[in-house]
Amino acid sequence: MKVLVFGGSFDPVHKGHVAMFRKALQIIRPDVAHVVPAYHSPFKAKSPTPFNLRMQMAKAAFSSLGKNIIFDDCERKRGGKTYSYQLVQYLRQRYVQPDIYLLVGTDCLNDLHAWKNPEYIFENATVVAGRRKGFAEHKADFKHLFLPGVFPKMSSTRVRAHILASGSVPEDKVPQSVGHIILKNDLYGLEVHRWLKAHLKPNRYLHSVKVAEQCSLLSDIYEVAAEKAVQAGILHDAGKGLSGTELIAFCKQHKISVPFFEDICRFEPSLLHSYVSAWLAKHEFGVKDKEVLAAITEHTLGSLHMSTLSKILFVADISSKDRKYKDAFVIRTLAAQDLEKALLYAANRKLWFTIDSQKWLCPAGIELWNHLVKCAA
Ligand SMILES: [Fe+2]
Ligand SMILES: [Fe+2]
Repeated sequence: MKVLVFGGSFDPVHKGHVAMFRKALQIIRPDVAHVVPAYHSPFKAKSPTPFNLRMQMAKAAFSSLGKNIIFDDCERKRGGKTYSYQLVQYLRQRYVQPDIYLLVGTDCLNDLHAWKNPEYIFENATVVAGRRKGFAEHKADFKHLFLPGVFPKMSSTRVRAHILASGSVPEDKVPQSVGHIILKNDLYGLEVHRWLKAHLKPNRYLHSVKVAEQCSLLSDIYEVAAEKAVQAGILHDAGKGLSGTELIAFCKQHKISVPFFEDICRFEPSLLHSYVSAWLAKHEFGVKDKEVLAAITEHTLGSLHMSTLSKILFVADISSKDRKYKDAFVIRTLAAQDLEKALLYAANRKLWFTIDSQKWLCPAGIELWNHLVKCAA
């Protein structure tokens, strides 16, 4: 009896999953196929998408591929992480002498030896994988099978980052039926977009989307988690809808600590929006990541201890594609090559812009400039 098993977070299911599973069904022709969404502990999960919704997405995406598919909630019943070897164990108990085929992502194949109890998997199952473009294939010393063809390079993480950045589901990556579930349940940050649309002017909302997209691009180059970069980008101006007087009142009401507060209140209260945005990110949207919150706080004036994420947001904010001035293009181009140089250039432009506008120069901006010049020397 041939049993195909396909486990994953399916958070969400994307077209790469569908293509691999379809091909595996065609090639292996199993008597039965188990689709096993992973159980995430709500306290440890990277994404809080409930199991039920991920199961719904798996059913929506895979049901039409065959009649002999079991959508298996064994991981939820266990209530904890199930290792692949345990999945194989479970199927050996469930069926009489099953011929088990374990479908895995291509990227997993090279590090299969690092999995828990890999010997058990190699002895009791055939590992099935699809090739992706550019995949460097190592020699596998265990029973395995490559599906014919090349499969699209997609990841659920990227899909989530795309939705959070743009507020839309990428049709080229997500099956339509899965897209409906995402929209219906406001998954992956769609509620953030609704909030921003309600609280910001259309131009400011568009700017937030463009900054998030720019953050996503730069996160790839500088190896920062895309979801963190996009989260910082989309929320960085959440407080920008408030007037100067409202920003001052907000900071006082919530006891937000702001350096040079008195002077900022007197000369340039709009600078407070980055502190208010960070507060909103934390309290309105539940962002806990300190690096993300710091990046939002620092996006206007910078700091002397900026993380790569902070630098990305600072630069993306001044050079996003909605910015029409010439410098935006220069900084954007520079940012793709050298983040430090782009940061120096961005800080320089901000200072000159403030002086040209005959506005008050916050000492934090001057401190940042001196710090960057020292670092560059
Ligand atoms: Fe801002
Ligand atoms: Fe901004």
